[in-house]
Amino acid sequence: MTNLVVIGTQWGDEGKGKVVDLLAEQADIIVRFQGGHNAGHTLVIEDKVFKLSLLPSGIVREDKITVIGNGVVLDPWELLKEIELVKSQGVNIDPTRLMIAENTPLILPYHKALDQSREQATDTKIGTTGRGIGPAYEDKAGRRAIKASDLNDTRLLNDRLKVAAEYHDFDQRDLLVELLEIRHDILQYVGPVAEWLNAQTDAGKNIVFEGAQGSMLDVDFGTYPYVTSSNTLAGMASIGTGVPHNRIPNVIGITKAYTTRVGEGPMTTELFDDIGNHLSTVGKEKGTVTGRDRRCGWFDATQVRKTCMINGVTGIALTKIDVLDELKSIKICIDNVDGIPVYEELPGWCTSTIGITEYADLPRLAQAYIERIEILCQRQVVIISTGPERDQTILLKDNLF
Ligand code: IMP
Repeated sequence: MTNLVVIGTQWGDEGKGKVVDLLAEQADIIVRFQGGHNAGHTLVIEDKVFKLSLLPSGIVREDKITVIGNGVVLDPWELLKEIELVKSQGVNIDPTRLMIAENTPLILPYHKALDQSREQATDTKIGTTGRGIGPAYEDKAGRRAIKASDLNDTRLLNDRLKVAAEYHDFDQRDLLVELLEIRHDILQYVGPVAEWLNAQTDAGKNIVFEGAQGSMLDVDFGTYPYVTSSNTLAGMASIGTGVPHNRIPNVIGITKAYTTRVGEGPMTTELFDDIGNHLSTVGKEKGTVTGRDRRCGWFDATQVRKTCMINGVTGIALTKIDVLDELKSIKICIDNVDGIPVYEELPGWCTSTIGITEYADLPRLAQAYIERIEILCQRQVVIISTGPERDQTILLKDNLF
């Protein structure tokens, strides 16, 4: 079996983009299965910085095929913009390299307007990205979504828009015209994703399923109601693509060596002091999508142990260990009593780990920190990231598929 899913074990922004890119080297196909352009993945490849929101990370490698599954909510205008941007950076994108599932729900302008107006009403503020993600998922569950394949049939599209317009109160004629203008640009990518991915699995291809956001933002298991509107856990890779769960046996849990969160909601280990500021500055903790400052805090082992359990994580990819380099002592949350963290304190290594590629070259105290995380989270660390570049990585297992 050759399929693998990559998810975040915290609140997103764990550095999934880089790890997916690394795994993409060994993969044939890279698939997004949930979320939308609320995600932000930064890829640094040689002298180029790619900022992706909706396109799967594999898009930057021209020998890979990428797929957007039905679990995603897709803003067609944003997708076309992102395709143009990546193309302008010298990457070829055409229907041989990108496929969108027929049954993918669209994010339309009224979703974005609703998301933003709700956020402005202060008593309901979640701190969303304001991109229409929540309202689009609501319409999917409410059976009023417009799906990608509806663009194929003008009459059907008009009927579906009528249902949405009655509910949301907008002018359906204008939107119909706007959608007809771009439909061929989108439809060229639309195809039978579930059938195709299952056939590729039968043929023994390596597929990476690329999660977005993080487990603590999952609509069922996250810090509800301060969550995103999709399931972000590994199980969603199956529902969001049509590849059965028992054909995706490997789960890599991307885990930052400390904790960050964007938006509102509880965060047990949040720091409001100089150390929090230090993590924020050294870790360059600003949201890729919204540019908001991320809240920073110590590593929460109770949280990651649980998210490893519910995702069935088979190996942890530990990222941004180098951000802790200058700290004299480092805390790990080992228990949570009524929202108050109980910490264990470990000595810092106070020397640079940036760019280290061999485990043996890590300072002994950094190894001790990593080994403590493995014990507390009951999982093996299989990848350690020591910087933003692709080659600033320690690989502890040759074949992750
Ligand atoms: P929404 O997904 O835009 O509805 O936002 C809901 C919550 O998820 C907010 O707290 C966002 O800041 C957070 N969120 C959404 N996408 C991401 C992401 O890619 N990384 C981190 N947080 C995210």
